[in-house]
Amino acid sequence: MSEYRVKKAHPIATEITVPGDKSISHRSIMFAALSNGTCEITGFLPSGDCLSTATAFRSMGVKIDFLNNDDSVWEPDETGHGPHRVIVQGRGLQLQAPAGPVDCGNSGTTMRLLSGILAGQDFSTVLTGDESLSKRPMKRVTGPLSLMGATFEGTGPKETPPLTVHGHSGLKPITYTLPMASAQVKSAILLAGLYTEGKTTVIEPEITRNHTETMLRHFRVKTVREGMAISIYGGQVPESRDFHVPGDISSAAFWLVAAAIQPGSELIIKGVGLNETRTGILKVLIRMGAQIAEDLTTGADGEPYGTLTIRGGGLKGTIIEGAEIPNVIDELPILAVAAALAHGKTIIRDAKELRVKETDRISAVVENLKHFGVEVRELFDGMEIEGSKGESLTAGKVTSFGDHRIAMAFAIAGLFAEGESIITDTDCVNTSYPGFAAHLRLFQSRQVSGSGHTPVIDRPPGSLSKSPHA
Ligand code: S3P
Repeated sequence: MSEYRVKKAHPIATEITVPGDKSISHRSIMFAALSNGTCEITGFLPSGDCLSTATAFRSMGVKIDFLNNDDSVWEPDETGHGPHRVIVQGRGLQLQAPAGPVDCGNSGTTMRLLSGILAGQDFSTVLTGDESLSKRPMKRVTGPLSLMGATFEGTGPKETPPLTVHGHSGLKPITYTLPMASAQVKSAILLAGLYTEGKTTVIEPEITRNHTETMLRHFRVKTVREGMAISIYGGQVPESRDFHVPGDISSAAFWLVAAAIQPGSELIIKGVGLNETRTGILKVLIRMGAQIAEDLTTGADGEPYGTLTIRGGGLKGTIIEGAEIPNVIDELPILAVAAALAHGKTIIRDAKELRVKETDRISAVVENLKHFGVEVRELFDGMEIEGSKGESLTAGKVTSFGDHRIAMAFAIAGLFAEGESIITDTDCVNTSYPGFAAHLRLFQSRQVSGSGHTPVIDRPPGSLSKSPHA
């Protein structure tokens, strides 16, 4: 089991790119697989989660080739470099029954979106996952998908995995009000809606990430948004298209916060996804006092991306709540670390969804912040954090609880703590950010030197998740 040992960092001045967006990478494989022809995907995130999605679709008869620059076959390796391109031969909406259970690994997105697609197949599939995924509730997707005509067998009242999906060809369209703000549940229902002969509508309580709608549009599948309702008509087959996956703002978030906290730092992040349903982190950091410039380009495939420049300064506490929560849901652990170093109190509330992520992220963040000497109070749906007024934290020894975002958030905390911090159980980082450990080392050793920026990281320089002292 690997660990990170992190020491206090100096201000940084550099330029980086981050690996491809996880949510978009999953969907790129899924929509290309359901399309009517060949699609080429670039920028794909070669992380454990996204490879689980690719393996799942391969097991259902979809030909997927991962290729290097010279067209040789790409394999995941120690370096962490992704494939140059991924070629997916779509088979249309009908998949082939897999020979055995489909392993979704650690990935909730794979299992939940796949449940929507499998609901409309004329075969049954068993979906399995690792220990963490096996504790996550699937009832939130099986409930609405059962109303559409599929049947499911999960474990216990929350229908945790293993989950058997008995698909049904000719699903019924529904109008469904989501009980929680979840892009995964919204997407599962919209995808099942393709297998109906009518109009399926999902009403969300708050706006959630809209990659499914934006990307389906690129693949010429129309969805319609009216206020908080999103509708899709059944029978539309995605048209094959090439697709570029931008960098993941949720991965950039760790470095944005690292730069924002440190007066004198300046960081440029290029080619990062700037979809407005994901950029809440920028708004929060600006509110806390960071200076951020955004240079936006809208890609031909509809997913906006661009360059971010961030300058560090003293941060101040803030309140993160309500409609803003779904937009920053994956960034709350690292925002809690920013809050721990800010001037004044930060309150995070309305975020009880954090309790059903890869781990209970409310209790994990609260426990770990305490190990770093932070004054923090757990709320049922969030936390209250007393900032250190820019003073260094005390080095902590903490676990990731097997959760990639907890591991990375507390590695960043270690950059702002006196002494050596240890974060254990960091293999999980590979589920979203191969190459994180190498980036961390560069940030730790990088100092402001003279003027201008030295591009030190062009691509993920390597997954060191297997290294004992990354
Ligand atoms: C995701 C949606 C969010 C997010 C997850 C990825 C997606 O989950 O936390 O990391 O790709 O749709 P919920 O839908 O459960 O909020």
